[in-house]
Amino acid sequence: MNIGVIGAGTMGSGIAQVASTADCQVYLYDSQVAALERSKQQLAKIMDRLVTKGRLTEEKAQQIQQNIHYVQDLNELANAELVIEAIIENPDIKKQVFQRLEPLLSTEAIIASNTSSLSIASLAAACQRPERFIGIHFFNPAPLMKLVEIIPAVQTANAILDKANDIIASWGKQTVIAKDTPGFIVNRVARPFYGEALRIYDEGIADIPTIDWAMKNIGQFRMGPFELMDFIGNDVNYTVTETVFKAFYYDPRYRPSFTQKRMSEAGYLGRKSGRGYYDYQEGVIKPSPTEDTALGQTIVDRIVAMLINEAADALHFRIATREDIDAAMTKGVNYPKGLLSWADEIGIEACVQRLDQLFDHYRESRYRCSPLLRKMAANGERFFSSEKAPHHV
Ligand SMILES: NC(=O)c1ccc[n+]([C@@H]2O[C@H](COP(=O)([O-])OP(=O)(O)OC[C@H]3O[C@@H](n4cnc5c(N)ncnc54)[C@H](O)[C@@H]3O)[C@@H](O)[C@H]2O)c1
Repeated sequence: MNIGVIGAGTMGSGIAQVASTADCQVYLYDSQVAALERSKQQLAKIMDRLVTKGRLTEEKAQQIQQNIHYVQDLNELANAELVIEAIIENPDIKKQVFQRLEPLLSTEAIIASNTSSLSIASLAAACQRPERFIGIHFFNPAPLMKLVEIIPAVQTANAILDKANDIIASWGKQTVIAKDTPGFIVNRVARPFYGEALRIYDEGIADIPTIDWAMKNIGQFRMGPFELMDFIGNDVNYTVTETVFKAFYYDPRYRPSFTQKRMSEAGYLGRKSGRGYYDYQEGVIKPSPTEDTALGQTIVDRIVAMLINEAADALHFRIATREDIDAAMTKGVNYPKGLLSWADEIGIEACVQRLDQLFDHYRESRYRCSPLLRKMAANGERFFSSEKAPHHV
């Protein structure tokens, strides 16, 4: 199968590698020759490493590299059955590219965007045949992250959704289908992981190392929120939060933190700048957490309750199915458990109580409990029990 990828940066290069590993012929286009060269060299390095580690045969590594054609002319994508765009996150530039691309393709070809924050409907509207347009959202690094969100726009034809889903699944990815709403599934449901951790810190309830320690050691998350923000980059993470906040018409649930804004403004971006919430310079010893189990449990209970509330609300608004919401968080951001399964484990009523306690204390709508959780608690329902699953979702 011929696949087109537009943009040879972080995501485009990763997506090209995934498709070529699945034996597709990939035509990778970028407006910058230097980006194409960099992408090619980086793939060669990755392949060498995988061969050295014994994860790939020399032959397969060669094949993966030969399957990718680095092209400087958009016309070379003419025979692609699916084109995935992964250029700069700018709606006008993306739309211009789609308008140049569409007349080159066969009428059956699918056009997709890897956008994280733009509405798929708005991008589809730039096409002559918007029914062939869809969102296909990979996670970074694309070859390692198993999850891909598939986002049909209101214009997308059902057959295109099925075909796009089948192609991505055939590349060994776990696909989930998300409604075309800000943040799709992962970037919406994950917000409290950062936002509530920042709030706990801002209020002086615990310091940064203690919050990270609690989330890892008691919550069983792979990384603490501050370690993860430093890893993602405070500039990038702050922008996602702010974008989601604005896109939800300033819903206080998603309100960004001044702390993170200041970190970003100061250039304390995290690992990439050598300093973020932690100091990454050589020889600097990481500050120790206060290993207070009771405090740690309070921190975890609060952040997890807020995450569960977000997941429940995503289900309430039919952003995705229960199964897909749980798969998205375990496969897209490596959470230790699906949030809805976690809610079942804690007990829906206990989740509602935790949220109501926060709401009573703060009197802020940020802490309002999802109506779905409240209804389920009243009816004694669970998310994943066959006999008492909520009938309307
Ligand atoms: N980086 C992430 O973690 C991540 C994760 C998921 C989705 N995304 C989305 O993927 C897209 C790409 O992000 P990225 O991080 O790979 O960006 P990047 O900056 O690493 O790469 C973008 C590439 O697009 C090229 N480009 C820019 N304008 C172009 C044009 N008009 N025609 C052709 N090529 C052009 C640039 O030369 C560059 O090589 C964005 O929409 C972003 O929101 C990013």
